[in-house]
Amino acid sequence: MNVLVIGGGGREHTIVWKLAQSPKVKKLYAIPGGPGMMGLAECVPMDVTNLEGLAQWAETHAIDLTVVGPEAPLVAGLVDVFEAHGLKAFGPKAKAAEIEGSKIFSKELMEKYHVPTAFFKVCDSLDEAKAYVREKGAPIVIKADGLAAGKGVVVAMTEKEALEALEEMMGQEHRFGSAGSRVVIEEFMEGEECSLLCFTDGKTIVPMIPAQDHKRVFDGDKGPNTGGMGAYAPAPVMTEALKQKTLDTIIRPVIDALEKEGRPYSGCLYAGLMISGDSIKVVEFNCRFGDPETQAVLPLFDGDLAEVMYACATGTLRPDMVKWKSGAAVCVVMASGGYPGSYPKGIAITGLEEASKLEDVVVFHAGTKEVDGQIVTNGGRVLGVTAVDETIAKAKERAYGAVERIHFEGAQYRKDIAWRALNR
Ligand code: AMP
Ligand code: GLY
Repeated sequence: MNVLVIGGGGREHTIVWKLAQSPKVKKLYAIPGGPGMMGLAECVPMDVTNLEGLAQWAETHAIDLTVVGPEAPLVAGLVDVFEAHGLKAFGPKAKAAEIEGSKIFSKELMEKYHVPTAFFKVCDSLDEAKAYVREKGAPIVIKADGLAAGKGVVVAMTEKEALEALEEMMGQEHRFGSAGSRVVIEEFMEGEECSLLCFTDGKTIVPMIPAQDHKRVFDGDKGPNTGGMGAYAPAPVMTEALKQKTLDTIIRPVIDALEKEGRPYSGCLYAGLMISGDSIKVVEFNCRFGDPETQAVLPLFDGDLAEVMYACATGTLRPDMVKWKSGAAVCVVMASGGYPGSYPKGIAITGLEEASKLEDVVVFHAGTKEVDGQIVTNGGRVLGVTAVDETIAKAKERAYGAVERIHFEGAQYRKDIAWRALNR
């Protein structure tokens, strides 16, 4: 197979790295890709918003399967355009991707089909939203409707914070453009979060190993939310019984609901969950692999990823195709100083080769660039350093051993990835 991966972050590097291990893959391309993929895939610098251009490129290069990493091209309809050209792609079409693209669609779908989630209200005007916040009080959660690059959610611990967030999203400033014209205001849920990613062809559903992300920038889950500062898998909070409950009460009903609504879903469905005792509720759905969860989950995958993804894209997925290694994986994200606020770019990174040579360690590139043969920083999240070992504790030690060999000025990373699992 000739396989094309769309995207260039840490998640896509991980997908490329795993696909490269498949005997079925003859030639691997990435658009735009990145320096971490060197030697694994041919990287092609093209505009990923030009869907027609991408489909024509894929036709010319006899691509048998296209794997879409990020949400934006899925929500924009990349898979629809590719299908119109007779091309196979892993990922949902636009109408199904709305489960991530619109918080309102997602919440209303869950309400209609009785999928457990936080109680919510959709507000169309600033006055209505403010009145609702005053009625409910804090803590309360405010979500902009459209894609806001992971920054459209404010978990407000005080009423003042909530009102300010509304002003910012819906007032004069309109920080998220059209994404802020309507908001979802929802009940604050207590508990422990867990990400369950599932492969699906629209009928068969096969869960991956449950993972846990670390959204806050600082140790002890302090500071502002980020795209994710590290992840590990398996997450012990998700017991076998809870996993079955999630499949029965959340994943299966949602996949069936989407089918019923004329929006059949295939690809990876990511359920962000809140677990409290044996209660499990949906925080959000994503229409793609998680980042950095993928960097912890796929290193444990023991099947043929190209085969599984092709099966998802062609309605031929079978549970026995999806196999897992025993053991655990921990991924530590190394970010630029200042992230998630403003940060510098172009800072030289050293120690990459040394770290990559360590046994059972892989350094995934999230935001890097090559300048005259030197790898430099080129984003907020720069690297995802993953290690695999028998236990979470051992994988953590191995991952931090690798992190310590890598240097760039201002580098910041959390020292406590996997703390919840280790505190149990
Ligand atoms: P989302 O983009 O919907 O996943 O929200 C980002 C993060 O905000 C989540 O991973 C949670 O940590 C937090 N969050 C979102 N919704 C809620 C909620 N209803 N209760 C508590 N925390 C939430
Ligand atoms: N790690 C959170 C996400 O991928 O949305």
